[in-house]
Amino acid sequence: MARGSEFLGSEWAILCGAMSWVSERNLVSAISNAGGFGVIACGAMTPELLDGEIAGTKALTSKPFGVNLITMHPQLFDLIEVCGRHQVGHVVLAGGIPPKGSVEAIKATGAKVICFAPTVALGKKLLRSGADALVIEGMEAGGHIGPVSTSVLAQEILPSLAEENLVFVAGGIGRGEAIAGYLEMGACGVQLGTRFACASESIAHPDFKKAFFRASARDAVTSVQVDPRLPVIPVRALKNKGTDEFTAKQIEVARLLDQGAIEMGEAQLQIEHFWAGALRRAVIDGDVENGSLMAGQSVGMVSQEEPVAEIITALLGECEAALSQRRAA
Ligand SMILES: Cc1cc2nc3c(=O)[nH]c(=O)nc-3n(C[C@H](O)[C@H](O)[C@H](O)COP(=O)(O)O)c2cc1C
Repeated sequence: MARGSEFLGSEWAILCGAMSWVSERNLVSAISNAGGFGVIACGAMTPELLDGEIAGTKALTSKPFGVNLITMHPQLFDLIEVCGRHQVGHVVLAGGIPPKGSVEAIKATGAKVICFAPTVALGKKLLRSGADALVIEGMEAGGHIGPVSTSVLAQEILPSLAEENLVFVAGGIGRGEAIAGYLEMGACGVQLGTRFACASESIAHPDFKKAFFRASARDAVTSVQVDPRLPVIPVRALKNKGTDEFTAKQIEVARLLDQGAIEMGEAQLQIEHFWAGALRRAVIDGDVENGSLMAGQSVGMVSQEEPVAEIITALLGECEAALSQRRAA
């Protein structure tokens, strides 16, 4: 973990993955102040909003934190410019292969670039293109997910890439024993989302948090794709009426595609806007019926509101105990 924390500039190489609407100044600064590494979720924010959020976070912590940018954001390069102006140390690029020039633009600001690697081949390509570190995220995670589990990704990617490169593991991590396992396999750190979403410092609505406390792993299900022509990135969330509404939304968008009323790009954008709006309804307004309760399978291990510092201490304690037990054996 020392390699990971040196790279991040934090005490521990535990990132709180960016969560749209949840990972704002309060949670991000709390994570960094507790020795972890907080990441602002830019999501669909405008450059002006991101500017304010970074300034607000800086007012609450002097520790390093990062910013997560979605590669398909139409103003990606303006957002990079905002990060550069604030001298943000680490930018995480999420949502697909970084567009041409984006990695270079981030590095020109002096920031380090972290990318998501879905396969060994793509991981190597991203590193060759300038990525300073990789995150591998399995389908146990909350939010938008790929098709492969964390345990398989870790076995496929860590042995070939983690010795010479920095690789963080994400998806399904709820306890320190799992962190110990991935560190032993060569990871330099981990990223958690679900475990931190309901921390005391998280601004998520009390009803959003209650839904998490009540849920078990099997309640965090993936969305289904209803039309083979409309590629929809699956989303893992707690099952509710909003999950069914998403199916209806896909049927509506597929019909518009059929009629030639919209292009594929616009169709995909409408789907993404649906998620952003639905997540906001759940996180901010507390509409746990119709909103999107994005959550990973580790939600079953989240049973009460706890301060971030206590969550990190518990994770480290479990991790340390597991490692010393193995050393003793
Ligand atoms: C409510 C929620 C919202 C999320 N939003 C984003 C996002 O906007 N951008 C992103 O890259 N990842 C997003 N994620 C994924 C997290 O950053 C993180 O990688 C993931 O939660 C890790 O897996 P875990 O949930 O099993 O801990 C989100 C996850 C959750 C639970």
